[in-house]
Amino acid sequence: MKSKCLIFVFSLITIGTNAQVTASLKNGKPISPDLFGIFFEDLNYAGDGGLYAELIENRSFEYSLHENENWSPFTAWKYFRRGFAIGTAYVETSLPVHPNNPHYVVLTVDVADNGIGFKNSGFDGIAVKAGEKYDFSIFLRQISEQPIPIAIQLVDKKDAVVGQVDLVTQTKEWKKYTATIIPTQSSDSASLVILAKAKGKVAMDVISLFPQKTFRKRTNGLRADLAQAVADLKPAFMRFPGGCLVHGDGLGNMFHWKNTIGPIEERVEQRNIWNYHQTSGLGYFEYFQFCEDIGAKPLPVVPAGVSCNNSGQNWNEGQQCIPMSEMNDYVQDVLDLIEYANGPAASVWGAKRAAAGHPAPFNLQYIGVGNEDRQTPGFRERFKMIYDAIKAKYPAIIVMGTVGGLSEGEDIELGWKFGRELNVPFLDEHYYKKPEWFLSNHTRYDSYNRTGPKVYLGEYSTIGSTLYHALCEASYMVALERNGDVVRLSSYAPLLAKEKRTQWATDLIYFTNRSVFLSVNYYVQQLFSLNDGDRYFDGVVSYAKPDSLRAASCVSDSKTGDVIIKLVNVAAQPAQFAIDLSRFKGISSSGDITILSGDMNAKNSFANPHAIEPDTKAFKISKSFQYNVPASSLTIIRVKTKK
Ligand code: AHR
Repeated sequence: MKSKCLIFVFSLITIGTNAQVTASLKNGKPISPDLFGIFFEDLNYAGDGGLYAELIENRSFEYSLHENENWSPFTAWKYFRRGFAIGTAYVETSLPVHPNNPHYVVLTVDVADNGIGFKNSGFDGIAVKAGEKYDFSIFLRQISEQPIPIAIQLVDKKDAVVGQVDLVTQTKEWKKYTATIIPTQSSDSASLVILAKAKGKVAMDVISLFPQKTFRKRTNGLRADLAQAVADLKPAFMRFPGGCLVHGDGLGNMFHWKNTIGPIEERVEQRNIWNYHQTSGLGYFEYFQFCEDIGAKPLPVVPAGVSCNNSGQNWNEGQQCIPMSEMNDYVQDVLDLIEYANGPAASVWGAKRAAAGHPAPFNLQYIGVGNEDRQTPGFRERFKMIYDAIKAKYPAIIVMGTVGGLSEGEDIELGWKFGRELNVPFLDEHYYKKPEWFLSNHTRYDSYNRTGPKVYLGEYSTIGSTLYHALCEASYMVALERNGDVVRLSSYAPLLAKEKRTQWATDLIYFTNRSVFLSVNYYVQQLFSLNDGDRYFDGVVSYAKPDSLRAASCVSDSKTGDVIIKLVNVAAQPAQFAIDLSRFKGISSSGDITILSGDMNAKNSFANPHAIEPDTKAFKISKSFQYNVPASSLTIIRVKTKK
């Protein structure tokens, strides 16, 4: 029996909701099963030097002054000799392994003594583990008459050898040599040394070292621990390869997917818009494969025929358009991408996918066209060409248009108007805002028109890593669930950041060569993904005094039959919520509860990686109950139902 003092005047927690939202049925309203995904961009050395498991920096001698005034083809390499060896080295371009990969080094050995050649310390040191296998490869072209013995050494900080293999040049043509090195000692700061051990002349290129233990043991694969951290987010989809990286810093810097497939020595390398070097080793095949490996739907983004708004450091005025005379070819490239992903193995581009080891299609459903592009006539004309061509040839593919990079203003308004005119299925919104913005804009999507284009919230973040920031994101994600009929997909940005090589400070996953820590924001994203649903229910959760610091949602998941309650309390005091499950049949008396809570200002870091982590335990469920939610917390109650 309830005592009088327990009687609250509860009101629905769906703060500020309008009729469209509250009208959802007793049985709930269908919401997107793909609501929580991820966005991967090679920013902060997320790809090269990060997720892409290559251990050698500048493996193809393609770094150049044009990408960084301090760079040259020898960046990351040192001339190295043992004993009294004497020789010279220079960079050549006259007879490359492949025209896409023009630079290589030529080493002349006058006195071999104990060997002469080069040393590479990878991306801030190479991390190796004793007893594990590392795949080494190199392209060599013997220029002098006699074969040249070459020693490949893994060395520690003091240049002591911790692993070695030897080979001998076999031909005066370029040839790829491979070997496996097993270090006898672990090191976080090893280097790779290549030493010619006889008088003569030899050309070298594409010097590569990979751990055999990549994610799912893929060749040219991904760093296992980082890939696992991404996989553990259980994303419904993955948007890639960017962001600004896609449309590029001017037309010459656009990301063209065809440059990133095939043997690595034939891929086109280029400056990344984030001012470092992209080998294209992490290319479209690897992206599709990774999506498949982690069960995420691929969502590639192609440029909309225009470059970044800020190209050439012309802030907001730098957009360049592919000349109309080249647009037909460009549109064909986009269609070819869809064939590469989904076409039969006998089709022109499907055959290239099959040749890379994947005859079955990758089941592409989504494609993004454009990124935060200004809504200029040049953009509109090109977007329409691409969109019309995709629609005509691949009507089942869902195209995501772009509406600029801000939550309000001219581009988003014009973008929505244009998207509605063309009836583009999804439009991609981006905003990075203070945490308080997310609290006070909780109702943003409640009033969005339910007809016409749906929303993909492709990039968002509170630009901070404390529990407070993460909870403000959680509060907003509750609103995304409530609006999961119109907001069909969402992804936090950015995803990964390498220590000391970061251009964008607030990210989900931070790493060094050896370690990884997960931000509090990561856990919020993960908890929403692991506890997503496909029906949303109004009126299940209520709170005595609705305000912007508390939020809640209730969804059910048709795959498991589970009912999932999310309670967010951004305030510094506990809050009591009432939960009424009486509309659900077959509610089990036991469930589990996961709580993410702690000091509002706490954050995870390399020094304290576990400061804030979720905790799950069993929880007793009744049809209707009160729950006192801790201060500064996200609480998820998962209830089983008997089917
Ligand atoms: O996520 C970082 C960048 O922010 C993306 O590349 C771009 O789309 C946005 O401006």
